[in-house]
Amino acid sequence: MKNIIRLGVNIDHVATIRNARGGAFPDPLRAAIIAEKAGANSITAHLREDRRHISDSDIANLIKNISIPLNLEIAATEEMVEIALRFQPKSTCIVPEKREERTTEGGLDLFNRTKRLRLYVDELSKKNIRVSFFVEPELHTIDMAKDIGVPVVELHTGSYCDAKNKEKVKQHLNQIEVAAKHATSIGLECHAGHGLTFDSVPQIASISSITELNIGHFLIGEAIFSGLTPAIKKMRSIMDESRKKIIEKKYK
Ligand code: PXP
Repeated sequence: MKNIIRLGVNIDHVATIRNARGGAFPDPLRAAIIAEKAGANSITAHLREDRRHISDSDIANLIKNISIPLNLEIAATEEMVEIALRFQPKSTCIVPEKREERTTEGGLDLFNRTKRLRLYVDELSKKNIRVSFFVEPELHTIDMAKDIGVPVVELHTGSYCDAKNKEKVKQHLNQIEVAAKHATSIGLECHAGHGLTFDSVPQIASISSITELNIGHFLIGEAIFSGLTPAIKKMRSIMDESRKKIIEKKYK
């Protein structure tokens, strides 16, 4: 099927549960292997500076043992770029990071520390690591991402997912759609993610300029009730159905 949408499964919160007891279970690698079998196209893991979930050895294990690409999320710091250069994942998504936050809040600021970001993108790209920036769905930010030299942007869907009324949902959705179209029109690949659920994913998967979604927290939570395989399969199927509908509409 043309114009398919890829699913990256983020396994950070398997490590969150493991770390609650400081032991070895549940194992993020086991989750990654299950995700792969259930239809994930890639595995995403965020190695945070405080190592609150995924650890360096998790990254080593994932790189060694999974056969789908690893998308490593990192903050824009020298330490993290060095780690990415050492492990050489298929792709790296640079995200903003604050120690006091519970999860990634907002997109990356590309207008301060631009020189440093350019340097990191150059270093990572030279090792054939595909770099993306996690950004707000804003046209000027997307233009800046292009200017800095990344081939991919990942649009932050958090505000859309958190919107409390229909009007706001529509507003955020429209903003994401316009931003995704713009990214594609200037030659960037466009991904999206953060906070997506079975209910909020169809509208995002229906935006044809978006080629990949990265989804974690909801899937790991849902796995408690249904198991990880059914949760991922259901997400995959909702995404595929939403995609099929836009193709059918186009050829009607
Ligand atoms: N994309 C990026 C860049 C993220 O930082 C995160 C959260 O780590 C996600 C996607 C996945 O978000 P969620 O866990 O809310 O599905």
